[in-house]
This record gives sequence, C-alpha cells and structure tokens, in this order.
Amino acid sequence: MEWFRWQRNPWGQEILRGLSWDLIWLALAAGLLFAVVHTLLYYWRLRPNTPAGMAGKKNRTDVGGQVPERVPRHSLASRTFHWIMATSMLALLFTGFLPIFGLKFSWVTPHWISGLVLTGAILFHIIHASFWKGLASMWITLQDLRDGWLNLRQIVGLPDPAPGRTGKNPLENKLFHHVTSITTLAVIATGLLMMVKVDTPFWTRNPYLLPDDTWGVIYVLHGAASVAFITLIITHIYFAIRPEKRWITLSMIVGWIPRTRYLEHYDPEHWPVTQQTIRKATRPSPKDG
Ligand code: HEM
Repeated sequence: MEWFRWQRNPWGQEILRGLSWDLIWLALAAGLLFAVVHTLLYYWRLRPNTPAGMAGKKNRTDVGGQVPERVPRHSLASRTFHWIMATSMLALLFTGFLPIFGLKFSWVTPHWISGLVLTGAILFHIIHASFWKGLASMWITLQDLRDGWLNLRQIVGLPDPAPGRTGKNPLENKLFHHVTSITTLAVIATGLLMMVKVDTPFWTRNPYLLPDDTWGVIYVLHGAASVAFITLIITHIYFAIRPEKRWITLSMIVGWIPRTRYLEHYDPEHWPVTQQTIRKATRPSPKDG
C-alpha cells in the first residue's frame, strides 16, 4: 500500500502530487468495521434489556410534570444548516471521488461550487453557535469524561456504578463534532487555496503561486481530510439509521423529541427544560387558529 502519489516535473525530479488513493479502501474498511463491531456489541451488551443498556435509563417521573409533550431539540436555523451541510458534503464526496474510481465527467466546477456552499454554511454555523446557541453545550466536561469512562467499562462487562444520564450532547456526540470540525476546517482551508489552480468565472488559474512541493503538501492534506470523511460519514449515517436512534434523526427533521425520550435519556439538570423551551413547545401553531 502506498501513502503518497508522486509525479515528475519537467526537469525529471520526483515531486509530491498528493495522497495515495489506496487509503480510500482503508477508510471504507474502517467505517464498515466500526459498523459491524458496534452492531455485534449492541446485540451482546448495549440492548435495553442488557445491564449496560439499562444503565441509568429508568424513566424519571419526578420532573415529568413540567416537561412538554414535544421537547424542542433543534431550531429551524440549526436544521437548515445541517441539511445544507449534508447535501454539500455528499456532493463534494461524489464529485471528488467518482472520477478517481474511473467515472469521467467534468467534476471540478460542481466540486468547488459545493465547496463554497459548504464554506458559507460553516461560516453561518460558527457565528450562530458563538452568538446565539452558545459554545457551552459542546464543551467536554469532567462529568462527560467520567460518564464516558463508566460507559466503556460497562460495555466490556466490568461491574461499575451506572453512568449518569447525559446532557443534550453525550461525550460521543461532542467527540464526533470536534473531529468533524477539524477535518472540515482542513478541507475548506486547503480547498480554498486549491481554487487558485483552477479556472473560475472570477480568475484564471495560476499554478505557480506556490512552489510545487508546497502544492504537494496542500493536496496531501486535502486528500487526507477527504478520505477521513469517508469513515466519518459512514459512522454518522450508520448511527442515523439504527432503529433505536431514529427518534434523534427524526428530530433533525421535525425539530423536537417526544417527552418520553427526554425523560428516558437526559438529565434535566444538564439539559434543563426552561420556561422559554416550554413556551416554544406550547406556542399555538398557525393551523390551531
Ligand atoms: C467533504 C469535503 C471534500 C471532499 C471529500 C473533497 C475531495 C476532493 C478530492 C478527492 C480531490 C482530488 C484531489 C487530488 O487530486 O489530489 C479534490 C480536489 C479539489 N477540491 Fe475538494 N473535497 C472537499 C472539499 C472541498 C472544498 C470545501 C473546496 C473549496 C472550497 C474544494 C476544492 C477543491 C479543488 C479546487 C480541488 C482541485 C481540483 C484540481 O486540482 O483540479 N474541495 N477534492
């Protein structure tokens, strides 16, 4: 297996061209292996009637009275961002990788246009998260680490106290978010630089802006982040379609989760249902007159 692609320049020197596409198979295998191992672990240990599956999941009714039937989880702005990001990512993956698998079409223009859509969506998300949503909900706390550790120990069958119920985003969500953020920023930064090398309606290409070996490094980073997305997207879609997770996926469409799910999975101290949340949930819709 090769790690890099090389090419000869007009002077016969070997220069770095980019990442080796052999790594695509490694990324596909890692994503599929993760899905298979998780499915097996699920049937062995994580199902609701197994000890680890039951951990901390007894329904709480003490706070139940104040919780509305539909607990808002994602605002319209967050959902719109999510689906624009997902569509542009899939467009980038297909336009980037299909030509490598031998499908010939003019992929460069749809590719960079999808890249600009993704860049715009991410800029919006950074501003929205910093000034409206607040960054605290994605911060990894000591409690998250403790619960994550207890979860791991329960999965391998160690007799430990059950981990507590989580806030809105458990450790695994936060870790996935942070790894995806780094990968996305890398692919955007390198992709924007690489646009200098392609013709657009705004400028003609200038492949000589940077030395060849610097372009080589930029192409390796763009390729590495792109290949990492194969694994990240397989694991993300795998969880999204798992039957016991579909209510979370559905909330990314409708915006709310049912009260029973909230009481079963979340700790109201870490994800409180505030008066504002209740007002939003019980606000009459225009259809109600
Ligand atoms: C999920 C995100 C992305 C994936 C999977 C992806 C994938 C790829 C792949 C596989 C290549 C071929 C690289 C090579 O030949 O070494 C490429 C090239 C390129 N990408 Fe991306 N990319 C992504 C995001 C972006 C973004 C955000 C932009 C721009 C804002 C962008 C702009 C470009 C450009 C300009 C090229 C070079 C085309 C050329 O040299 O002819 N990409 N991308």
